[in-house]
Amino acid sequence: MEKRSKNPVTGNISDVLEWYTDIGMTVAIGNAPVNHKQVRPSIHAVTNPMLPAKTGTDPLPKVVASSKQVVNSKAIAAACKTVDELRQAIINFDGCDLKMTATHTVFSDGNPEAKIMIIGEAPGADEDRQGRPFVGLSGQLLDRVLASIHLSRTQNIYISNIISWRPPGNRTPTPHEIALCQPFIERHIELIAPKILILVGGVSAKTLLNTNEGIMKLRGKWHEFKTDTMQNPIKTMATYHPAFLLRSPGQKAAVWKDLLLVQEEMQKIGLA
Ligand code: URA
Repeated sequence: MEKRSKNPVTGNISDVLEWYTDIGMTVAIGNAPVNHKQVRPSIHAVTNPMLPAKTGTDPLPKVVASSKQVVNSKAIAAACKTVDELRQAIINFDGCDLKMTATHTVFSDGNPEAKIMIIGEAPGADEDRQGRPFVGLSGQLLDRVLASIHLSRTQNIYISNIISWRPPGNRTPTPHEIALCQPFIERHIELIAPKILILVGGVSAKTLLNTNEGIMKLRGKWHEFKTDTMQNPIKTMATYHPAFLLRSPGQKAAVWKDLLLVQEEMQKIGLA
C-alpha cells in the first residue's frame, strides 16, 4: 500500500494535493511571477448555470428583532464576559425551538486563541450527533481547503455557526431563528476578537454583513464586520459553503481565489 507523507497541518499531504487538483492547479510553480496585489477582474460578471440558484436578489427576509425572545437573547449574550460563560448561556437558553429537536448544542471547535474565525450556518446531522461544528463531509472538505493555506482548527482556526442547534432535516434556518441566535454569534465574535473572519455560505454572510445581497455577489472581496461595542471592524471574507462545493465541485477554484486573498491579508498583518 502506498505510504502517505505527513503534513504538519493535515496529517496527509495527499489530501492537500487532492484539493489542488480539484481546483485545477496542475503545476506547483507558474512560469511567471504572480502579482497578487493587482486588481482582479470581477469574478461575478460570469453567468454560470452551476452557481447556486439563489442570487443577489433573494433577500433573506429581515425579521424585526422586536420579539421578547430576541430582546432576551441580546441581553443574555451581552452579559457574558467570557467564551465559557457564553457557551453555558447558550446551553441554558430555551428561547429557540430548534433546541427541542437537537441532540446537542453545537458551540465551537478549534483554537479560541486563533486570529482567524470561520462562521458557518448551522449544525447538520453529524455535528448534532457529535456536538462539534463541521465534522461531517462538508467539514472534512473545509479542513482540506484550509490546509491548502496552512490553516487548521488544531492550530490557528476557530469555528462556529450562526445557529447552535440543527434545524430538523437540515432545512435553512428561518429568519426568526436567525434573529434569535444572531446576538449569540455576534457576542462570540466580540469575545474571540479575531483579526480575520471568514463567512461560509449565504446565511452566514447575509446575517453578519447585514445585507440582502447573495453570496455570489458577496464573496471574493473584503467586507467589514463591526458591532456597536467593538472599537475596530474586523476584515471579513465571504465565500461559498463547503456543502455547496460538494454539490458543485467546479466552484472550488472560486473558493481558492477567496482564500488567496485571505492568505495575502494574513501575510500583510503578520499571521503568515
Ligand atoms: N454546515 C454548517 O454550516 N455548519 C456545520 O457545523 C456543519 C455543516
